[in-house]
Amino acid sequence: MPLNFRTYHDLTEPDRSGLAEQIGAQRRRVAERLAVVARVVAVMSGKGGVGKSFVTAHLARALARMGGAVGVLDADLNGPTVPQLLRVPVASCTLHDGVVEPAVSPEGVRCFSMGLLIEDGRPLAFRGPAAESFVWRGALEATALRELLADVAWGPLDVLLVDLPPGMQRFTELAELLPEPPPVVAITIPTPESEDAVRRALHAARDRGAPCLGVIENMAGGPFVGDAGDTLAREFAIPLLARLPFHPSAHEWDRIAHRVGGSA
Ligand SMILES: Nc1ncnc2c1ncn2[C@@H]1O[C@H](COP(=O)(O)OP(=O)(O)O)[C@@H](O)[C@H]1O
Ligand SMILES: [Mg+2]
Repeated sequence: MPLNFRTYHDLTEPDRSGLAEQIGAQRRRVAERLAVVARVVAVMSGKGGVGKSFVTAHLARALARMGGAVGVLDADLNGPTVPQLLRVPVASCTLHDGVVEPAVSPEGVRCFSMGLLIEDGRPLAFRGPAAESFVWRGALEATALRELLADVAWGPLDVLLVDLPPGMQRFTELAELLPEPPPVVAITIPTPESEDAVRRALHAARDRGAPCLGVIENMAGGPFVGDAGDTLAREFAIPLLARLPFHPSAHEWDRIAHRVGGSA
């Protein structure tokens, strides 16, 4: 594991007073790494299994086909799926002098994911007292995100897409690490349950001051009944970027890429 997750108890200074400086230095490294990234876009949803990772990966591939320099950060630390979707071979990111070089997909999408570090099929494990893991696990996951953003050398990018896990906690952590909250794309499926979860997520993003580029209704025209995409777009006065069927065509991805990628 190349990334060095420091915890309070790992610090060796007599009074452990170095913590604030260490975090400050890390935040400066995050700012330096992202200084050459023109745009960070967070792909989010309150809900799991609606296609965040699927949309992120296909959108990234479409942007790369259009000639953009694109990166994907898989911020789902516990259920990383981006490498598979981008067809990036496991263990293909490299480390030298504490800097992580992202893996590169066949289309040229740069990618970093916990899935590239962890043994195939194994869960992410942190060192610590197992009995109290509920106390520190959240804090360590937030730390992990900060380490990733500080250590992965994306190089110049037109767009860095961040594939978020369900819920809004990781979004909040991301927004706090960036100079300003990133624009978001919200993914829903047509159903009222998904609508409800995504509504909460959109409120949370809006409360943080994040601009919303729009909502994508995924898995439309299949077994899921509802009009979550239209309803949310109307309610938040944001564009319905796409209503995606199962197995969208390359043309459909290109169309969304034009709308989300800007100049990429
Ligand atoms: N439009 C689609 N057509 C076909 N399969 C899809 C579509 N959207 C998502 N999937 C599949 O559904 C599953 C869940 O999608 P995923 O992107 O992992 O969801 P999330 O990241 O929101 O949890 C995955 O197996 C994915 O490949
Ligand atoms: Mg996912």
